[in-house]
Amino acid sequence: MLNIKERVINGERSTYVMELIMEMRNQGWFWTEEFIWHKKNSVPGKWPNRFRDSWERLLQFNKSKIFNMYQDEVRVPIGDWSKSRLKNLSETDKRRDNAKNGSGFGKNISNWVGKETVFPSNVLHLATECNNKNHSAAFPEELPEWFIKLFTKETDTVLDPFMGSGTTLIVANRMKRNSIGIEIIPEYCEMVRKQIKPVEMYLLEPKLKYEKTKIKGRIAVR
Ligand SMILES: C[S@@+](CC[C@H](N)C(=O)[O-])C[C@H]1O[C@@H](n2cnc3c(N)ncnc32)[C@H](O)[C@@H]1O
Repeated sequence: MLNIKERVINGERSTYVMELIMEMRNQGWFWTEEFIWHKKNSVPGKWPNRFRDSWERLLQFNKSKIFNMYQDEVRVPIGDWSKSRLKNLSETDKRRDNAKNGSGFGKNISNWVGKETVFPSNVLHLATECNNKNHSAAFPEELPEWFIKLFTKETDTVLDPFMGSGTTLIVANRMKRNSIGIEIIPEYCEMVRKQIKPVEMYLLEPKLKYEKTKIKGRIAVR
């Protein structure tokens, strides 16, 4: 998952994100999905040719089209829309209604009758980090937490090649995942190293045998 946004240079958005996507594909990665992080608390401002920037990209790349995705871990409450929308279903609502443009998208509204939770959208509404004074570009803990929940299980390994203040590693550590961080500035490595403590936990083996294992956080200076 790459969190990145085009900078504005000389009044124009840079194209490096598009170039990055093409280069990743050239290197054999699949560009599986793009999530949007909507920054709920962006500060108002006035610019002559644009409005304030309130979102960033989260680009998902995978080495294979088959990967682990634990969708139930990030379900959200169904929301108020369901109360009125699901009350009187039309005939179309009761069967799968395919998009007319042949995109393959379709929906069956009646599937949601009686459901309390649904899968989320690909837009994450999160406030920017205000508490972490250790890095100017730290993202909120909820951001890595959501993706770690979605794509990993306890004892899996999470890698952050641009570690910064270590938000991803600290959250992974708390969620009992192993983690590896890479950072070019040695001071950040030292700072994060002090915060990551090995976590002891018990892993349930298939034969109902408990084996003691340690969650580790590894940090490397590039
Ligand atoms: C946007 S910050 C990441 C912030 C992080 N997500 C957090 O919550 O603190 C990007 C980090 O990548 C580091 N960085 C930049 N180029 C790098 C490289 N080539 N190798 C390793 N780290 C690099 C920077 O020093 C910076 O700390």
